Amino acid sequence: MDTSSPSLHLLLLVLLCLRLDPTGAAAQQKNQFIFNGFKEAKLHLDGNAKILPDGLLQLTNTSKHKIGHAFYSFPISFSDGLSFSTTFVFAMVPEIENISGHGIAFAISPPATDFRTANTNQYLGLLNASDDGLSSNHLLAIELDTIFNPEFGDIDDNHVGIDLNKLSSIAAASVAYYDERVNRSLKLISGKPMQVWIDYREVRNLMDVRIAPLGTQKPNRPLLSKPINLSSIILNSMQVGFSSSTGAIASNHYILGWSFSKTGEAQSLEISKLPSIPKNRKRNWTTGGLSVSLIIVSVLLVFAVTGVVYSLRRKKYEEIHEDWERQYGTHRFSYKDLYRSTNGFKETELLGVGGFGKVYKGIIRSSKQQIAVKKVSHDSKQGMKEFVAEIASIGRLRHRNLVQLLGYCRRRGELLLVYDFMPNGSLDKLLFKKQKPGLNWAQRFRIIKGVASALLYLHEEWEQVVLHRDIKASNVLLDADLNGRLGDFGLARLYDHGANPDTTHVVGTVGYLAPELTRTGKATTSTDVFAFGSFLLEIACGRRPIEPRGTPEALLLVDGVLEKWKSGVVLEASDPNLGGEYSEEEMGLVLKLGLLCSHSSPAARPSMRQVLQYLGGDASMPEVMLDTAGEGSFGVDNKMCYEFPLSCLSSNVMSSSAISVATITNESLLKGGR
Ligand SMILES: *[C@@H]1O[C@H](CO)[C@@H](O)[C@H](O)[C@H]1NC(C)=O
Ligand SMILES: *[C@@H]1O[C@H](CO)[C@@H](O)[C@H](O)[C@H]1NC(C)=O
Ligand SMILES: *[C@@H]1O[C@H](CO)[C@@H](O)[C@H](O)[C@H]1NC(C)=O
Ligand SMILES: *[C@@H]1O[C@H](CO)[C@@H](O)[C@H](O)[C@H]1NC(C)=O
Ligand SMILES: *[C@@H]1O[C@H](CO)[C@@H](O)[C@H](O)[C@H]1NC(C)=O
Repeated sequence: MDTSSPSLHLLLLVLLCLRLDPTGAAAQQKNQFIFNGFKEAKLHLDGNAKILPDGLLQLTNTSKHKIGHAFYSFPISFSDGLSFSTTFVFAMVPEIENISGHGIAFAISPPATDFRTANTNQYLGLLNASDDGLSSNHLLAIELDTIFNPEFGDIDDNHVGIDLNKLSSIAAASVAYYDERVNRSLKLISGKPMQVWIDYREVRNLMDVRIAPLGTQKPNRPLLSKPINLSSIILNSMQVGFSSSTGAIASNHYILGWSFSKTGEAQSLEISKLPSIPKNRKRNWTTGGLSVSLIIVSVLLVFAVTGVVYSLRRKKYEEIHEDWERQYGTHRFSYKDLYRSTNGFKETELLGVGGFGKVYKGIIRSSKQQIAVKKVSHDSKQGMKEFVAEIASIGRLRHRNLVQLLGYCRRRGELLLVYDFMPNGSLDKLLFKKQKPGLNWAQRFRIIKGVASALLYLHEEWEQVVLHRDIKASNVLLDADLNGRLGDFGLARLYDHGANPDTTHVVGTVGYLAPELTRTGKATTSTDVFAFGSFLLEIACGRRPIEPRGTPEALLLVDGVLEKWKSGVVLEASDPNLGGEYSEEEMGLVLKLGLLCSHSSPAARPSMRQVLQYLGGDASMPEVMLDTAGEGSFGVDNKMCYEFPLSCLSSNVMSSSAISVATITNESLLKGGR
């Protein structure tokens, strides 16, 4: 029997009306309402929620780590049945295009619920770590979640889920406009208004959720249809409304209109009456970065002042938890889980060893997800605090050419970083593999473009400038489809933070260090571009930037390429293993770009945005730069490198491990140069 047929609805309506006493009419009025805009709406607001002059309900603005709530001022009576129907129009306008935090939820809860003690970030302003999951919550929430939180079993970073008393959804689906003939995915953070319909019919114990772009009909088929018995959740009297939160990254969360009914289908909204969404004023990243660092600095100050002392005894599974870590919302793995997933950090699970520590392969037992666990040993407490703050923001970075950080775990003197496992290992292993098949040119060129776009994202497209500081083939990992993914970003900072202020450490790898970096010790986006230049030459020529090959002239790769370029035979520098099979145009471009990026003057190097334009053929490279470049303008300071002790090179540069990092002090470099 189809319960959604109009005749049955009518019958139910009549039956319900028959049960109502005359005084029930007013109650019924309050059990059903419609707001086409919220100018005159009776709502109870808290947190950052406010009603803007044109009637737009703004749950959160771009303030970070905030919550906002808006609940209908009158309780709704569910004493005559648990069925309800509601529809609303929302929009999420992220501060920075395509990067969001965190989401909106439609919520039903007991009237006295005080959501002000709920957490921000992934808790969506609904619950906190201590009450998540309690049956006494009596909370039903339909979440529109824009962040992937593995600890809540999230399916992705763009889903709608049904939550009962806890944030792990009992049912979830990627957001899509789904109907008989369409199945088109929608992006929650597109900034575009969308309409949601939620219908619960007690007769069938069925919860249906639909979503569609504003202006389209209610889809006939639900995106989510889940049998639920709400009798243990919903009490006789409940409040209905919305909750929303932001995290380290914030979105404006808006509700444009809302209709709710306890009897039959919620009345349709009048789209022409809905308020419009203000244009996103894209803030300059410097101010965004500043406020994030202010938050981080003030949090660190608070904890430096309170001077918490940690004197826990070391036990097998012991970890270090600090309250301030919760703030960042980065997923924490338990040491026990990581220990088990890697078979107790067995040598057989070892993927690589490097300057930062060992990397192990693991499989999370519950989800069968493959992970790579990096054990970083560290003993400076101050450095660790700043570093975890940084890791937390790094965990929010999302780019298809970055190795995704899934979470972390802290122990005494030890930090464990959990990453997506990359089945094809590091690029240098394939690049320098002697036997065929290695990587063909098309694959290499795709990897170059991927890594370039990841660097552009780190440098210019995120809210803070993130310097990678150690770009090289061995830090580029390959996923199952041989896409290049940049790993280990920001890790070099750990050594920066922990550095003794009396000595300047230069972090990076010889051959990729820009000359001004070895002089001043100050990393910039230009020093990253320099390293990227060496990386380009490395891929095109199939050899490392510095290799002791008999003659001193052959030591520096960049010199060899420059010589060839000057004699008009630059293609001769290409990797002999390619057997001449490459696009001459692309090869020429990559070699030339590699030279340009390796220019000794930072001002002459292109930005990553220009690099991408050159690679995409959208702009042509300046000829002049290379023409006027005199002898010795390229690469690291030649003299210094020629006299660099080879024993030092072989330990720092020639290590073929996936994560080798050379930490050299200025002093030792200068000594080598004299
Ligand atoms: C967000 O709203 C709060 C409360 O109304 C206000 O104090 C804050 O300045 C706003 N933040 C931004 C970024 O507009
Ligand atoms: C945001 O994402 C959309 C589609 O995913 C894409 O077309 C657009 O270029 C992206 N914008 C930026 C600034 O990355
Ligand atoms: C968590 O929320 C509950 C219920 O709102 C509240 O009683 C409790 O104090 C909160 N806990 C924290 C740590 O804020
Ligand atoms: C819509 O399509 C996607 C991928 O094409 C699929 O994963 C999803 O299950 C489909 N949704 C429904 C409700 O069928
Ligand atoms: C829902 O559960 C309650 C108690 O758990 C039960 O009494 C009731 O019959 C159930 N409703 C339906 C429609 O199955």
